[in-house]
Amino acid sequence: MEIVVLPSLDEAAELAATRLVRRAELRPGLVLGLATGSSPLPLYRALQRRVEQGLDLSGAQGFALDEYVGLPPGDPRSYAATIDREVTRPLRLDPARVHVPHGAAQDLEQAAEDFERAIADAGGVDVQLLGIGTQGHLGFNEPGSSLGSRTRLKTLTRQTREDNARFFASVEDVPRHCLTQGLGTILDARALVLFAAGPGKAAAVAAALEGPVSSSCPASVLQLHRFATVYLDEAAASGLARAEFYADTFAHQPAWQRERAF
Ligand code: GLP
Repeated sequence: MEIVVLPSLDEAAELAATRLVRRAELRPGLVLGLATGSSPLPLYRALQRRVEQGLDLSGAQGFALDEYVGLPPGDPRSYAATIDREVTRPLRLDPARVHVPHGAAQDLEQAAEDFERAIADAGGVDVQLLGIGTQGHLGFNEPGSSLGSRTRLKTLTRQTREDNARFFASVEDVPRHCLTQGLGTILDARALVLFAAGPGKAAAVAAALEGPVSSSCPASVLQLHRFATVYLDEAAASGLARAEFYADTFAHQPAWQRERAF
């Protein structure tokens, strides 16, 4: 695992965008796993600047991590609408190649299965972008999620509903259920890239990166992946016991390794 701590996520996003563009140039049909939330936004903006300068991502595919259940199709608070607004349009992706779990489906089990099949049909996710919840969730895999789970219906914790209440009139309006890629689905991606910022994420980040691998902290599954990169600002990294070592590693990373990394 590579842990990169920079003063702000804007700087991290520039580095991650440079690395991602190199990957996209090598593989024009790049399959991106897309995350909502505020943490990946600097990366999307950094990629948008490159698209405006001529980068063509129209051959890429996108798969969102999760979606609320119970919002009407087209609801601006849905993740389908959010991904369209924050990612598909600014990065000029082909909307037909961007997939979000169908949280308004009648048959949610079928919708989850269809989503897994679509990922498999695309040849799997190349780079999965991730944020982390204050209780360590990945996607909407709340504490207690099976480490081998696939896309399925989940119940949101009160904490997650409170964290996301800022997008709704009140916490009671935040849906109780969601469809989310499972932790097993996420681990199948060829590379994982997680962004976290702010003191509110410090405890979850420390538990995920330096605590035991446990369903009590779903993001700890990053420790099982061969190619996981974590970009943190200093506040999000403030709970890490080995922060000095990570800084030293990054400062002295051999050029060939930095070239290949994410
Ligand atoms: C939501 C999303 C997660 C995201 C999390 C953190 O709960 N389902 O995928 O990681 O928010 O959001 P933020 O990046 O805004 O802190």
